[in-house]
Amino acid sequence: MRFYPVLTDDGSISLYNTEVGDIYHSSIGAYTEALNKYTLPSGIIEYCKTSNKVNILDTCFGLGYNSRVSITEIIKINPQCKINLCILENDPYVLAYSLLVSIENEPGLVVKALKFVILASELIKQAIENILKDVTFTHKQRLDLKLIKQLEKIKSYNVKDEIDSKVMLHNIYYPPQSKSNKMGEKIQYKSNSINIDLWLCDARHAIQQVEPYYDFIFHDPFTPSKVPVLWTVDFFSEYKRILSDRGNITTYSSNSAVRNGMFETGLCVGRTKPVGRKTSGTIAYKNSYYLINELNDLEKGLLDTRSAIPYIDKDFSLTNKEVINNRQILVNKSDKISASKYLRLNGIC
Ligand SMILES: C[S@@+](CC[C@H](N)C(=O)[O-])C[C@H]1O[C@@H](n2cnc3c(N)ncnc32)[C@H](O)[C@@H]1O
Repeated sequence: MRFYPVLTDDGSISLYNTEVGDIYHSSIGAYTEALNKYTLPSGIIEYCKTSNKVNILDTCFGLGYNSRVSITEIIKINPQCKINLCILENDPYVLAYSLLVSIENEPGLVVKALKFVILASELIKQAIENILKDVTFTHKQRLDLKLIKQLEKIKSYNVKDEIDSKVMLHNIYYPPQSKSNKMGEKIQYKSNSINIDLWLCDARHAIQQVEPYYDFIFHDPFTPSKVPVLWTVDFFSEYKRILSDRGNITTYSSNSAVRNGMFETGLCVGRTKPVGRKTSGTIAYKNSYYLINELNDLEKGLLDTRSAIPYIDKDFSLTNKEVINNRQILVNKSDKISASKYLRLNGIC
């Protein structure tokens, strides 16, 4: 099995990926990270104090902390707020494990809606079967047996029996979009309080079909050096197309190539407060009027170095390796100063 559920420092569950040899969240905790890197810096709580509707796009939903923590906080201050949530995620196993996550005070209607959507997916149901069949997993990870029992219980939950008549749920199947991709699914859930669109496929495929407008976009792929295809100028242009006028995009990364990629699409780029490390995150807007924390002078200067040459994937068809190699060619040709030289000149080793 590729994943084991693990506990992080704040007591919330994360996943250990045996292929990558890494945990999905930093040690400060999955919940704490979501709250401090996405919910609070995005301003979504303030927004929902006065708005009875919010549209959220969660790219690389994973276990779902970023949108689930945000929605939990929104409902605390405005129980009337109607939530439209669009989820982009390509891994049915991670979504299966997301059913094991429990967030304090998470509204029952959100838990129920997510359960419906996730268990309506044939690909996720198959993933749950495989997890439960994986003997090595249960033998090696005795500590997590309790969680696996929970998954067993969840599997027996019958979506069709529980669904009420006001809820609309339907699946659309997609053939693979590229050589590296498996079959995809789109599932829609509609109710009075929350609508969910789940795109279980490569986010690059989904993003081209997502319709405007989103107020808050949470961007949480693996690091740009590992998965550059989700950090390209072209992907950010799609964000610009679907972002509402006062909306914003938040991400944990402070990578100059990422920030510059956002700039190149015409977005206004600022910083979020550092959490659990020295570097800040990034927040981008369509409209500079809403930008509160500008990049500092050092960060702005870095955008004029070689390291800020952005990632490109015009047709959304390249592999990660191709995107990296193409960018490297541009870096080698560039006559811009390197980031390390720039930092040295500014007294930072
Ligand atoms: C850092 S984790 C996200 C953590 C997540 N936000 C959470 O709260 O648990 C990155 C996620 O990106 C997903 N992913 C990787 N490549 C993707 C792609 N091309 N399209 C959609 N999702 C992708 C992975 O399956 C993984 O769940």
